[in-house]
This record gives sequence, C-alpha cells and structure tokens, in this order.
Amino acid sequence: MRLFIDTGSVAEVEEISRWGVLAGATTNPSLLAKEHGDPGEIVRRICDLVGGPVSAEVVSTEPAAMVAEGRALRELHEHVTVKVPFDEAGLEATHTLTGEGIAVNMTLVFSANQAMLAAGAGATYVSCFMGRLDDISVDSGAVVAEIVECFRATGVTSEIIAASIRHPEHVITAASLGCEIATVPGKVLKQMLEHPLTAAGAERFRADWESRPEFGEWLRGLVEHSPASSKG
Ligand code: G3P
Repeated sequence: MRLFIDTGSVAEVEEISRWGVLAGATTNPSLLAKEHGDPGEIVRRICDLVGGPVSAEVVSTEPAAMVAEGRALRELHEHVTVKVPFDEAGLEATHTLTGEGIAVNMTLVFSANQAMLAAGAGATYVSCFMGRLDDISVDSGAVVAEIVECFRATGVTSEIIAASIRHPEHVITAASLGCEIATVPGKVLKQMLEHPLTAAGAERFRADWESRPEFGEWLRGLVEHSPASSKG
C-alpha cells in the first residue's frame, strides 16, 4: 500500500517527504482554508515535494463548472489529480474529465454502491472516508472491505484511497484489506513512528556503546578516514 499525506501544509510535507515514504498527497478545501498564501502555489510546492499525485479539489456544484475548475487545476502542475466530490454532478464531471485523460480522485465516498458508481464514471481513485464513517457508528473496516471485494470481483481498476484516517489502526486496516493507498495526516504518520520498545532499545544501544569510550573514538576515526565522508 502506498502512503499519501493528507494536508494543506507545505511545511508538513517538507518535513515528512524527507522520510522517503510519501508517494503522493491529498488536499481538500478545508485543509487549504487553514493555510496562509496562494492555494495554487501551495499545491505546486506540494507537487514538487512529493513527486507523485497530488489531489486538488473542485468546489462548484454544476458539472460544467466542475469540469472547468478541474481543467484549470490540472494546469497547475503535471502531478495534479482533480478531486471531485461524489454526487450526480460529480459523476458527470468525472466522466468528462477522465475522458480527457485527466486523473480524478472521487471523494466523499461512504458505501460500496457509491464506490461502484465512481469507478463506473471512470474515477482513477475512489476515496472512502474511514473516520467519518466511524463518527456515525458505521464500521469503516466493513465498508472498505466491501468496496475492495466488489472491485476485485468485477475487475475494477480504480484505486481505493483510505481517507479520513484518524489513527494508526486505520492505516493497518486499510493495508490489510488491500487498499492501494492510504492518505494519512502528518500527525498520524508521526504516531506510526512510535513504539516504546524502539526508544528503549535505542537508549540501551547508546548506553552500552558509551560504556566503551575507545569504541566511540574508533568509529569517529572510521568516519573521518572513509572516502565516502568527503562526499558530504
Ligand atoms: O482526505 C479527506 C480527509 O481529509 C477527511 O478527513 O478527518 O476531515 O474526516 P477528516
């Protein structure tokens, strides 16, 4: 499963893209509304940083206006994927945009029926919102499992994005059910780093090594005399 970052923050993408784990990003109007600066510039910067698909969302509600916004967003950067909210107008716009070769991420999908309609309209990606399903006491894992099953059983090639990820367990559920992508907020990506045994293990390695000061000197010498260290 590929990991995208779900954010409107360039600073967050700058920080986390250095880990080398990001294959793309998703934004939405709510995330961009929290940021300062030109939204187009933010999307472009995120595109450059992640070097993969970055979703930017249309906000109009009529198909023709959605298509016009989608075409314009696509012009921002070669990595832009147009995010289109699910409804009748969204399906129509998705059909037109994908017919023009523009990648579409159909968003706000909460059921297997909606997912099949999105795929039928040609959506490149279908985003199922796990956290918002849990918020209304619907088992998000069961919905995602149903979408995966329907897509696999019928040979649908649209990729499933697990979105509205609220905690690391959602990421594990999405991966184990076979979602191609999870789009994860920076906060949750950082939570995925943590395990008390990792911190305790690192501390013990450090303490044991420092109990032999000559080993430290040896390693510093090794680094200094290594031809690789002159590369910077
Ligand atoms: O990508 C959609 C996602 O950002 C929604 O997340 O937490 O607002 O439900 P949330």
